Amino acid sequence: MIASLVNAAELLEPYSPQVPTDQLIVALNRWYHEHEVKTYDHEHEEIRHQLPPLWEAMVATAVSRHTQQPWRILNFGCGTGFEASLLLQFLAPESIDELWCYDLSPEMLEMCKATMGPKFPKAHFVNSLDELPSDGRFNLFATNSVLHHLPSPAETLESMLPHLSDTAIWLAGHEPSSRYYKNPICCETYRRFLQTHRRRRWLSPSAYLNFALRKTGLRETPAQAAAISAVNAGMLERRPSLRVVSRLVDLHVAHSSEEAEAGRGFDIDEMTNHFSNDWELCSYKAYSFMGSFYEGGLSRNWQNECRRLAEQYPKDGANFCSVWQRC
Ligand SMILES: C[S@@+](CC[C@H](N)C(=O)[O-])C[C@H]1O[C@@H](n2cnc3c(N)ncnc32)[C@H](O)[C@@H]1O
Repeated sequence: MIASLVNAAELLEPYSPQVPTDQLIVALNRWYHEHEVKTYDHEHEEIRHQLPPLWEAMVATAVSRHTQQPWRILNFGCGTGFEASLLLQFLAPESIDELWCYDLSPEMLEMCKATMGPKFPKAHFVNSLDELPSDGRFNLFATNSVLHHLPSPAETLESMLPHLSDTAIWLAGHEPSSRYYKNPICCETYRRFLQTHRRRRWLSPSAYLNFALRKTGLRETPAQAAAISAVNAGMLERRPSLRVVSRLVDLHVAHSSEEAEAGRGFDIDEMTNHFSNDWELCSYKAYSFMGSFYEGGLSRNWQNECRRLAEQYPKDGANFCSVWQRC
């Protein structure tokens, strides 16, 4: 089994859930991303720096594996159009026949449409899986930073198979790896880093400003918006803490070795095993050797530490990209 519902029901219990846990996770994600769409493109700058070269390499793997072009692309959890834009950039435009973008959040999808529509006028933008053709036409399946939001990633991936061709390639970008927190040397280095980082963070005026704006309610966060919506919709009787909302939205992101051991996060070896009937792993790249921190923003000393860990434990970065082909 890969990445199960972990302790989601336990986290929700104090707030008296009125619907099943998986429904709540999907709903919280929808409200969270409805709110996050306003800031998403500005607040994830590290992703915008770090990921394009990784996607370029993933696309090169896909091209080397697949001779049956043109591409018919299904982008699941498209968000504001990040990976769809990269696909248009790295694939020859004449090699793309179809592009279908799907997202749970209508707001994210609208933003994707505004970005991608002019770049690829033939693109389709759908908010329901029922609108996707299920004739097995898609030979390129693209996801980025979305599997960790799904109540049951393995089930969702299985439900995608009828939409995909028998030799489809799956580009799976930027997911959290539990291997980082299962590696004691990575954990110990991260613990040392956090000690110095925490001291420095509280010297920063912007940290105080953000804290004050959130505490006074002047800046509503996506987690606050999702917590309020869940109560208003009658899905929870009491408003959950923001920590609980973010643990449920980022359901499969581990933050500690205990969480990783409890089943949070993805482990490429477990995935390879689990998917062995449907998918063959073509390439894998792990990065982020300082946990959730973008390595490019660290001091030279800490960047060197990251390099050292990457050389010693290449599979154990906190995030990874992978390429798969149906088998
Ligand atoms: C972190 S964002 C990533 C967006 C985009 N792929 C990117 O990399 O910029 C996660 C996206 O997954 C979508 N999402 C969350 N849960 C989902 C679900 N159950 N089904 C489909 N999309 C979902 C959210 O609406 C959001 O757009």
